[in-house]
Amino acid sequence: MSLLEARALIAGYGDFQALYGVDLTLESGEVLAIIGANGAGKTTLLRTLAGALPLRSGSVSFDGHALGGLPAHRICAAGIALVPEGRRLFPSLSVEENLLMGAYVRRSGPWNLQAVYGLFPILHEFHRRPATELSGGQQQMVAIGRALMSNPHLLLCDEISLGLAPVVVKGIYQALPLVCEQGVSVIVVEQDISQALRVARRVVCMREGRVVLEGAPDRLLRDQIAQAYFGAAVEKSR
Ligand SMILES: Nc1ncnc2c1ncn2[C@@H]1O[C@H](COP(=O)(O)OP(=O)(O)O)[C@@H](O)[C@H]1O
Ligand SMILES: [Mg+2]
Repeated sequence: MSLLEARALIAGYGDFQALYGVDLTLESGEVLAIIGANGAGKTTLLRTLAGALPLRSGSVSFDGHALGGLPAHRICAAGIALVPEGRRLFPSLSVEENLLMGAYVRRSGPWNLQAVYGLFPILHEFHRRPATELSGGQQQMVAIGRALMSNPHLLLCDEISLGLAPVVVKGIYQALPLVCEQGVSVIVVEQDISQALRVARRVVCMREGRVVLEGAPDRLLRDQIAQAYFGAAVEKSR
């Protein structure tokens, strides 16, 4: 049985439908990348999986439990944690207080303050500072650490490289294998295709609320990816 099996997910905002029957499967220990242009529905998909956005129809099974439609805190308690797009740190709280907010839903497991500081030592050094005084990359580490504090089995990372310098992105991505070693599966959403192809064993490309391509990075051709990413525009421009 797969760790995550999402079937025919439909979600949206008011009258606007953003997901049109998305299927997604993830094996335990896997790193999956979801790529796609701006507006493809990547964030909507992650937020729906995390319960931050209501599921309009479809089913989500995780670790053998039906989670579709449950509120966010129940989904977090079941072992799915979201690192939201734009980080969403609490500006008035210190680094450590932000991390502790992630332990609000506390599951047993290897992740606690000490383990997060082991993963990102700079956060220990700055643990009393207001989170917003940190650099963008350090703030992203806080957001990842906060999600880990709930001891998830699945970490959903939404554009963790956005707006960061390549060397900073590299540093953050170096932490992912260490996270996986602790038994955490990861879904990363990236607009940066090369970053996604580097880290993931499997890549899913979304366009206009649908999954349009899926496969192992070394088996997908560049043209296939470009076609899936940009759609008909690629063909027309030839
Ligand atoms: N809060 C919102 N209200 C209305 N429409 C939204 C909202 N958030 C996203 N959308 C729309 O849903 C679609 C998918 O957006 P999103 O999931 O954020 O895409 P991505 O993360 O791939 O850039 C887009 O057309 C976007 O404009
Ligand atoms: Mg997004």
